Amino acid sequence: MFLVKFLQSKIIRLLNSKKILRIFFYYHKFFNNKGLKDIGFDFSNKKNRKFIVQDIINKQNYSSYLEIGCFDDELFDAIKINRKVGVDPVTGGTERLTSNQFFYKNKEYFDCIFIDGLHTFKQVKKDIENSLKFLNKDGIILIHDCLPNNFYEQATPRCQFTWNGDVWKAIVECRTNKDLDVYTCYADFGIGIIFNRPNKNLLKYKSSNFSKIKFIDYHKNPYDLMNIVEYEKLKNII
Ligand SMILES: C[S@@+](CC[C@H](N)C(=O)[O-])C[C@H]1O[C@@H](n2cnc3c(N)ncnc32)[C@H](O)[C@@H]1O
Repeated sequence: MFLVKFLQSKIIRLLNSKKILRIFFYYHKFFNNKGLKDIGFDFSNKKNRKFIVQDIINKQNYSSYLEIGCFDDELFDAIKINRKVGVDPVTGGTERLTSNQFFYKNKEYFDCIFIDGLHTFKQVKKDIENSLKFLNKDGIILIHDCLPNNFYEQATPRCQFTWNGDVWKAIVECRTNKDLDVYTCYADFGIGIIFNRPNKNLLKYKSSNFSKIKFIDYHKNPYDLMNIVEYEKLKNII
């Protein structure tokens, strides 16, 4: 077990090293990017995730919090709540595990789950599915990094330091599920919000495999696709 964890953390560090990122950048530049311009999201005057997560917890009187992917505990340490669990295979939090390993052994339910681990569609989809299994009634799932500004910020494999990954595709897929109510808050690189209740704004987007949906569709109309709302409006929706 120790050896597996050690190798996992080495691989994660290697894939995020400068040289490897540069190689993937040129791979995307020559083979994948269609020269699309920045969308122009500007998060500088918006509330940050620390404010938003704590505000939701306070307003909803939540008592338990799970964070997937903690890094240097910037958010995890800031959250004030009775019970909190942080999962990260490399640094921070309270459980030195990947999210899959954690959910495999977990028996606890949470009011608020913040997903911010491995930013690939496949992993985020799995994290959402697992979180739904351990979400208390009237709980909320929040997902960080849902609004990339350009192709490179969402390209996988990761190719630069500022990286949201293709988390946005998992939000699009959830938006087509009639049993989930899904929004994206225009703040802090995009915070996805999932309620386990009937969908109030079902997205009609057909795909048999959402990992393959094209960035150009997101680039054309991110507002409709992602159901983007300002935090002020979101407070009434919650
Ligand atoms: C963007 S950082 C998290 C930042 C933190 N949530 C915050 O708001 O300050 C992503 C973290 O996810 C962790 N991570 C990578 N793969 C993971 C996995 N499979 N399960 C859980 N965490 C993972 C990384 O080690 C890294 O520390």
